[in-house]
Amino acid sequence: MAQITQYLIWVVTLVAISSSSDSWVGLVGVEGTVIGVNWGRNASHPLPPSKVVELLKANNVTRVRLYDADPSALEALSGSRIQAMVGIPNFMLRTFNSSFKAAQSWVHKNLTRYFSSGSSKIRIQYVAVGDEPFLQSYDGQYTPFVVGAATNVQAALTKASIADQVKVVVPCSYDAFLSESGLPSKGHFRPDLNKTMTQLLTFLARHNSPFLASISPFHLLQQNRNMSLSFSLFRETSHPRNDHHKLYTNSFDLSYDTLLTALSSAGFGHMDIIIGQIGWPTDGAVNANSSMAATFMKGFLGHLRSKSGTPLRPRDPPKEAYILSLLDEDQRSIADGSFERHWGIFTFDGQAKYQVDLAEGSGHLMNAQNVEYRSAKWCVVNNNKDLSNASANALKACSIADCSALSPGGSCYNLTWPGNISYAFNSYYQQHDQSPDSCDFGGLGLVTTVDPSVDSCRFLVQLQTSFGVSLVVSSSLHLILLLMAVFLV
Ligand SMILES: *[C@@H]1O[C@H](CO)[C@@H](O)[C@H](O)[C@H]1NC(C)=O
Ligand SMILES: *[C@@H]1O[C@H](CO)[C@@H](O)[C@H](O)[C@H]1NC(C)=O
Ligand SMILES: *[C@@H]1O[C@H](CO)[C@@H](O)[C@H](O)[C@H]1NC(C)=O
Ligand SMILES: *[C@@H]1O[C@H](CO)[C@@H](O)[C@H](O)[C@H]1NC(C)=O
Ligand SMILES: *[C@@H]1O[C@H](CO)[C@@H](O)[C@H](O)[C@H]1NC(C)=O
Ligand SMILES: *[C@@H]1O[C@H](CO)[C@@H](O)[C@H](O)[C@H]1NC(C)=O
Ligand SMILES: *[C@@H]1O[C@H](CO)[C@@H](O)[C@H](O)[C@H]1NC(C)=O
Ligand SMILES: *[C@@H]1O[C@H](CO)[C@@H](O)[C@H](O)[C@H]1NC(C)=O
Ligand SMILES: *[C@@H]1O[C@H](CO)[C@@H](O)[C@H](O)[C@H]1NC(C)=O
Ligand SMILES: *[C@@H]1O[C@H](CO)[C@@H](O)[C@H](O)[C@H]1NC(C)=O
Repeated sequence: MAQITQYLIWVVTLVAISSSSDSWVGLVGVEGTVIGVNWGRNASHPLPPSKVVELLKANNVTRVRLYDADPSALEALSGSRIQAMVGIPNFMLRTFNSSFKAAQSWVHKNLTRYFSSGSSKIRIQYVAVGDEPFLQSYDGQYTPFVVGAATNVQAALTKASIADQVKVVVPCSYDAFLSESGLPSKGHFRPDLNKTMTQLLTFLARHNSPFLASISPFHLLQQNRNMSLSFSLFRETSHPRNDHHKLYTNSFDLSYDTLLTALSSAGFGHMDIIIGQIGWPTDGAVNANSSMAATFMKGFLGHLRSKSGTPLRPRDPPKEAYILSLLDEDQRSIADGSFERHWGIFTFDGQAKYQVDLAEGSGHLMNAQNVEYRSAKWCVVNNNKDLSNASANALKACSIADCSALSPGGSCYNLTWPGNISYAFNSYYQQHDQSPDSCDFGGLGLVTTVDPSVDSCRFLVQLQTSFGVSLVVSSSLHLILLLMAVFLV
């Protein structure tokens, strides 16, 4: 009798667990596209991983892509129900191509331990080999290593008995496929990638892995590839592009079907596609502001949720899409443009820039809570000094700090001289944790407690990322001073 009762409890518990996880999956849509976010950490003062994970949870985000296997980020995710994609940086590809042992060691050190049972378990769904290694600006330097590295990583996963849980993917940049005529039916992979793509697609198909691609209507608009703003932003357009009676009303569908044609003509037309990066920046360029980003995101998410698919794959939207990006990153490379530091749905400190329904929830984003900032102090140029050298100092500051908002079209572009010099000084000062010598600039700098922000141009105060340490140091310093004072008395 007791045994039967125990058995019944066991069954009831199992049913309860499986139905609760079902409803959790249902929240993000089973047949539709699951929405994830890219969590990049190229910031001088990154939001602490625990705060980022709280932010993800508060916004019901269930998938996240990391660009490496940073233990602090992975540990913060452990025990959450958020599934992760972890990345292998490009600089490791050469080694991983030539050495199975290196790939095996990476898998062992950075993955295997999260698969043991217990509270530290993390659901790692994908390993992304390289970070857009085919990007045209890399000039092919990583291309020869990609398939070899992916093959060795796959073998290492198999050896570690986790290949049934983790799939190997390769992030493919938006510029790896194209159509000169602008018509999707003429889509193809970039000719320099032809041989590599054939090998990669064969590899992915053999392991039943999806094709991971970035789609970037913003880059295409910037590069003037015959795109209009309304076409890029999912706004109703009275001039749809007509491709053999297939009508294209937005840039996303056009890119997606260009990729589909490229896959089909290579013989892999049925491969699943995952969108690895898609978004709209909010600063640092013309057409980059938060109201346009909101329009784009609403249009994109609405399109996915309509489940209409694209003209070449109707009613079959991509399985997953990762938004670029969760947060702004002030140390991302700006080789492609100053906007690269402003992809976040949230600012660097986890505050929503606009409202968007990320997870079919309330439609109202939750901000990061209890964020610690440095003091309300700014560094500006001292107008009472001879400013003939100020611009040279500002340029030097900008070569290290983040002045992307001063670019044409940026939120601070309209600052007149010497306001823009102050912006540069302050950016450098905040990046250097407000240390007094970082507001010197040959005597031209001045610390102020009056916020110099004007309109949409915000003079930032950075995060207090080393809070714990400096608190301990300063409080022990206080203690010493106190003791000295007592002694002196
Ligand atoms: C930092 O940014 C570069 C591109 O600017 C990217 O390739 C890299 O993966 C990023 N790293 C992290 C940890 O986010
Ligand atoms: C990649 O690794 C293979 C196997 O070790 C090697 O034969 C090949 O030359 C490597 N490719 C490059 C471009 O170094
Ligand atoms: C992962 O493993 C390699 C050893 O193969 C190590 O060099 C690296 O620092 C580890 N950590 C990360 C974040 O990749
Ligand atoms: C540009 O778009 C127009 C109309 O949408 C089309 O007729 C033309 O062929 C396109 N040109 C290029 C180079 O894509
Ligand atoms: C490589 O080029 C050939 C000939 O142009 C083409 O048929 C094939 O689809 C291309 N393969 C890939 C993977 O792009
Ligand atoms: C964004 O840019 C558009 C077009 O330049 C402009 O109409 C709009 O007012 C801007 N929005 C914000 C919030 O700056
Ligand atoms: C997250 O999901 C919960 C439960 O469904 C819901 O009440 C809440 O509004 C959602 N939050 C957001 C930001 O969507
Ligand atoms: C400007 O910089 C130059 C070279 O660093 C220096 O010789 C000159 O004295 C500076 N002028 C002023 C007004 O500070
Ligand atoms: C900057 O000034 C130009 C011209 O006066 C104006 O069109 C633009 O909206 C302004 N930009 C911002 C960000 O205020
Ligand atoms: C500041 O603005 C002046 C013109 O008003 C310009 O010549 C200078 O390059 C700008 N400096 C920076 C750092 O943006």
